[in-house]
Amino acid sequence: MSEAVNRAWTMASRPDGEPIAENFEIVESPIPTPKHGEVLIRTQYMSLDPYMRGRMRSGPSYATPLQLGEVMTGEVVARVEQSESHLYKVGDTVRANIGWQEWAAVGAHTVRPVNSDLGPISTAVGILGMPGMTAYFGLLEVLKPRAGDTLVVSAASGAVGAVVGQIGKLNGCFVIGVAGSDEKCAYTIDELGFNAGINYKTQDVSAELARLSPTGVDCYFDNVGGPVSDAVFENLALKSRVAICGQISQYNASTPPQGPRNMAALIRTRTTIEGFLVYDFELQHEIARTRIANWIKDGSLKYKEDVVEGFEKAPEAFIGLLNGQNFGKLLVKLSD
Ligand SMILES: NC(=O)c1ccc[n+]([C@@H]2O[C@H](COP(=O)([O-])OP(=O)(O)OC[C@H]3O[C@@H](n4cnc5c(N)ncnc54)[C@H](OP(=O)(O)O)[C@@H]3O)[C@@H](O)[C@H]2O)c1
Repeated sequence: MSEAVNRAWTMASRPDGEPIAENFEIVESPIPTPKHGEVLIRTQYMSLDPYMRGRMRSGPSYATPLQLGEVMTGEVVARVEQSESHLYKVGDTVRANIGWQEWAAVGAHTVRPVNSDLGPISTAVGILGMPGMTAYFGLLEVLKPRAGDTLVVSAASGAVGAVVGQIGKLNGCFVIGVAGSDEKCAYTIDELGFNAGINYKTQDVSAELARLSPTGVDCYFDNVGGPVSDAVFENLALKSRVAICGQISQYNASTPPQGPRNMAALIRTRTTIEGFLVYDFELQHEIARTRIANWIKDGSLKYKEDVVEGFEKAPEAFIGLLNGQNFGKLLVKLSD
């Protein structure tokens, strides 16, 4: 990491389809000096997440789009290097929404403390952070699984999906993960305890679901949309529930593809579909964080991080995230 300057990855141009290296540009600036009430922080881990692709679009969304030349959106884990606030002291670890950059001076009230007693600091943007919260609330508050339910989760080995399936198991579900390689499917079964896995790239998802759960799918936690969801919709059970968490198969599409093809099946099954955002449950995040940390400590929950070393690698890693090259929660490590 450069000591003399701050480096930031900015959006140089909007992607047309899959992002390419030229859409990103490093911009250097002096390391800022914190004012009264601010802290100077230095990034240790940058979180890379699929939603960032949405911010690169100009169209309407639940969040304001990035402008050309703006620092790429994102949350980091950082160390307080200088404090002009009574809230933090030098050496504290915090979570901050400063985007893809090495240094920032920000209002102390805009960052959140990271409690390293709960887990390694990197988990503050992973299983103990936004992805973990997404899994917890999307499953328990939106899908509301019952013991004995068949739960299907797509992007099953990823930051959100892996937690969904494991909490599903803790709640007595029969869990089927859908993922993009045999290795990812094997991980969800052998390491995470899922009941079954389907490789959507090599197997017939609909036929496999029918074979694995002849009575149908009670709960579908949808991270991907597209053909995987079409196949799940063909296999839904009576009074089934679908939580729309993400639609990553469509994030690089310039125009929206044709919608779900099997909606007529939902008439017969009286299925409920609900979209949600992790921030809908913000007031309860601290409770969930503590519960998840306890599950990790007692061995009930496991997690996998895909750590890329080096600030320069962020765009390449992000492009890989959108086509399944990551295996676990994707992070860029800048320093210990
Ligand atoms: N609603 C919310 O508040 C909220 C919050 C956080 C995340 N999300 C959403 O949750 C989903 C998962 O996020 P994450 O952070 O856990 O990412 P992740 O699963 O760690 O990584 C993304 C994975 O998506 C899969 N994928 C990519 N393209 C695909 C395609 N065309 N078809 C099927 N799968 C594809 C890839 O896995 P495979 O190798 O298995 O294909 C890739 O590894 C994303 O859609 C994200 O936008 C929503």
